[in-house]
Amino acid sequence: MAEEVSFLRNVPIFTDIDEQELKKVAKLGVRKKYKKGSIVVLEEEMGAALFVIVSGKVKVVRMDETGREVILSIFGPGEFFGEMSLLDGMTRSASVVATMKTELFMIHRRDFLDLIAAYPQVAISLLGELAMRLRKADTQIKSLSLKDAAGRVANVLLMLADDLGMFRKGKVEVEDLPLQQDMANMAGTSRETVSRMLHKFIKEGHVQVKGNKLTINDYEAFRKQYV
Ligand code: CMP
Repeated sequence: MAEEVSFLRNVPIFTDIDEQELKKVAKLGVRKKYKKGSIVVLEEEMGAALFVIVSGKVKVVRMDETGREVILSIFGPGEFFGEMSLLDGMTRSASVVATMKTELFMIHRRDFLDLIAAYPQVAISLLGELAMRLRKADTQIKSLSLKDAAGRVANVLLMLADDLGMFRKGKVEVEDLPLQQDMANMAGTSRETVSRMLHKFIKEGHVQVKGNKLTINDYEAFRKQYV
């Protein structure tokens, strides 16, 4: 119980809930474990719950008309998903798949809606996060429609840096870089193009790749040149 409360305390949208209420939330929710590749949420199904990531990682995906997967976002510990269908009463807007062994904290729809009604601060944090996600989606739309291959791939690397990176003095390190095919699905391009662009960025001195660790040497300079 104490472990659950301290986990929830560190989830950005719940930081302003008082201790007593956080204990109630801890009791309301249940933890669930998922294997790599498991589908947590299926596009078009009715939404019954919100999920917060305890450990692991998930990807938010939609299929395009040719059946190819398009990755909209990747979420890690402390982040939430599944709120959209709870808020608008429509079906799930996308599928969410565990990309590694993942543990989630699940809150039922009614409990989540009661929580935001009782805590305006939770609703405000939630809106702030949704605004940020909309900004990212805007950037992704712009990059998919306007940019050449280099710009699109650079944009994906910058998005991964924003979501998963460790920033230090302008330099960013991203552990567990997704597979090149997954990055291609985020960029709306082919795996071969991602590979070609990564080599180009390495040659230009913008990035380093060791195993599945990516380093962007100067985030701002890279962004200025390509996005
Ligand atoms: P919901 O529609 O209930 O189920 C799928 C979830 O994926 C959705 O809620 C959001 O949490 C998440 N999601 C959908 N589209 C995006 C997006 N463009 N960026 C980030 N997350 C998204």
